Amino acid sequence: MKTLMLKVNSGDPEPEKIQKAAEIIQAGGLVAFPTETVYGLGADALNGGAVLRLFEAKNRPLDNPPIVHIASVPEVYPLVKGVSKKAELLIEQLWPGPLTLVFQRSKEVPKTTVAGLDTIAIRMPKHKVAQELIKKSHRPIAAPSANLSGKPSPTTAQHVYEDLNGRIDAILDAGATNIGVESTVVDLSSDSPILLRPGGTPFEVLKKLVPDLQLHPFVQAEQEIPLEKISSPGMKHKHYAPKAQVILVEGSVEAVVSKVKQLTESYTLQCQRVGVLATDETKSAYKGDVVRSLGSRFNLSTIARNLFSILREVDAEGVDVIVAEGVPLEGLGLAVMNRLRKAAGYHIIKTR
Ligand code: TXA
Ligand code: MG
Repeated sequence: MKTLMLKVNSGDPEPEKIQKAAEIIQAGGLVAFPTETVYGLGADALNGGAVLRLFEAKNRPLDNPPIVHIASVPEVYPLVKGVSKKAELLIEQLWPGPLTLVFQRSKEVPKTTVAGLDTIAIRMPKHKVAQELIKKSHRPIAAPSANLSGKPSPTTAQHVYEDLNGRIDAILDAGATNIGVESTVVDLSSDSPILLRPGGTPFEVLKKLVPDLQLHPFVQAEQEIPLEKISSPGMKHKHYAPKAQVILVEGSVEAVVSKVKQLTESYTLQCQRVGVLATDETKSAYKGDVVRSLGSRFNLSTIARNLFSILREVDAEGVDVIVAEGVPLEGLGLAVMNRLRKAAGYHIIKTR
């Protein structure tokens, strides 16, 4: 299969290019497109066969359902059993945006799209290209992140191309995404709202609107969660795993810097090629083979934006070990740390 690359203007996409992509979706094909978080791989959510091809293209386990994307609020109703007051409030305040809500699903949705579950994850993206594609397709679009399963989510069309060239029909290229980590997933399908995956919408923002919102233990887990505690299929699958072994160092900045230095030196002595994920404030302290800054420690949004592309970059350098600095768990830091802990396979070193 030849993958068509369509460059589009991100703020004002060319209608003929969106039309071309929409026709592919309508015909049951697969189109990667930008959202404000990461690139998604889209298929017609109401076409079970198309969604099955989507799982195959990504090598995604069949029990892990994608998020269904819509372009306007009324489109949510046919897909769900009902919309609670809490859901209404979050929708009104935060859609379109980097927030996915889990509802009880209606019978309209094919089983493949929800991986046989009674619930469905829905989101209304803010990116103009995503919105136009959904509108022109005239149907909801199922879209997991457009990476091969197990790779970091793609934040550029180039990342999508590296993973999926020859496996999908087209890629809409509108440059790098803005937020850089995936949407926050909140389960509203029962009476106790629970945040399943931290992402582009900070927990603090959600908690103000829904005070009884709880963090699932997995969100801040520092070790593998036992299977019986899992409440989102995504939690049991390996994620964000670079080829290199990742070690995450957490603690006060001074202690982290000295630990990272010590680890870098000792791995170098063992003839291992070391990559370091540092921050603007600490980068000059290190002498690893590949040292990259994720951004300033005082700007966690920048760190989130850079995280996946720098993980890919450092991994492509062929290092054996990646030593990463931890960041504070506030704002987008919660999502960053959740991804880093998973990438590290929970190989975490705590310092003081
Ligand atoms: O920002 C994003 O959310 C991106 C862009 C493309 O929109 N999409 C994305 O999709 O990250 P994906 O499929 O890679 O992640 C969806 C997550 C998975 O962890 C999945 O297990 C969870 O949402 N999920 C999907 N349906 C669910 C459901 N019914 N109940 C609980 N979790 C669900
Ligand atoms: Mg994903």
